[in-house]
Amino acid sequence: MKKIVSVAPMMDCTDRHDRFFLRLISKNVMMYTEMVATKSALHGDRKKILGFSSEEKPLALQVGGSDKKELAEVSKIAEDMGYDEININLGCPSKKVQKNKFGACLMKEPELVAECINEMVNACNIPVTAKTRIGFDDTEDFDYLNNFILKMKDAGSKSFIMHARKAILKGLTPKQNLNIPKLNYEMVYKIKNENPDLNIIINGGISKVEEIKKHLKKCDGVMIGRVIYQNPYFLVDIEREIFNEKNNPTREEVAEKLLKYLEKEVKLGTKVNHIMRHTVGLYHGQIGSKKWKKYLSDNMMARDSDFQKAKHIMTIVQNNEKANQIIA
Ligand SMILES: Cc1cc2nc3c(=O)[nH]c(=O)nc-3n(C[C@H](O)[C@H](O)[C@H](O)COP(=O)(O)O)c2cc1C
Repeated sequence: MKKIVSVAPMMDCTDRHDRFFLRLISKNVMMYTEMVATKSALHGDRKKILGFSSEEKPLALQVGGSDKKELAEVSKIAEDMGYDEININLGCPSKKVQKNKFGACLMKEPELVAECINEMVNACNIPVTAKTRIGFDDTEDFDYLNNFILKMKDAGSKSFIMHARKAILKGLTPKQNLNIPKLNYEMVYKIKNENPDLNIIINGGISKVEEIKKHLKKCDGVMIGRVIYQNPYFLVDIEREIFNEKNNPTREEVAEKLLKYLEKEVKLGTKVNHIMRHTVGLYHGQIGSKKWKKYLSDNMMARDSDFQKAKHIMTIVQNNEKANQIIA
């Protein structure tokens, strides 16, 4: 499985429609679902919560929980549904998540995490991975982090995504927790150095191809979140420069394929805005960017937007492409 670059799990962003859209741009990146709580996965509308289309693969299910039996059950379900990996969230600092005892607060409980991972590994045959921070509150200590990783390794996990900043569990909002604690890439590099047999994927604040190349000299993979959501076509730079992919789609081709998906999904009852909201950044940094955003907000963000309006979008796309070609 290629995991050199992956798109980060992001609540309210990387749902199945966003992943389908991103996959139209990039064949090679690994994708992650938004975090799904074990209880929702087990007791909710499974098709709605866990369903995906095969085009999205390779795809990991990210799960939030600390009940080992539930985690094991969800791991088996993930495997049966065709997910390529199951990932446990050990990095989310939100109050709600802490109250339910999952996410970053579990970094305080290495024994419990190891038990959970062990049960998950025993329950399925897909890789069980973890996404962590490098510390929490006053703890940003190499030995603590390394011992935590070693416990998870002993429990059967070989692959770790490390968001290179600590989580502040009290006093910062989730958004502040993505920006205020300082990035410390060296800590992640050191973990990789100390554990060359583990697959270490670095995450946090990575926004340029040059940075990806630099991190790949020290780690096994790079995970990127916000920059890809804001500028999905950045994936073409990644395809070209990192995966050496020469045949990449134009924005027009992406929009054309997305329309076919939209038509199919609308017939199944999906709202137009649930798909199109993810495409706001398609023209990021391009001449037609403002026009594209305005068209989307005027025509496609309402809950009752219809597909006929979506069809007209190709005119906007073609005009944008022409405008950019003239400048180029
Ligand atoms: C809107 C949003 C939602 C997020 N939801 C999740 C989530 O469900 N699970 C998770 O592990 N991390 C989540 N994160 C954190 C990202 O996966 C990632 O670790 C973080 O954004 C840092 O990477 P970046 O600087 O490339 O964005 C979220 C981040 C954002 C901005």
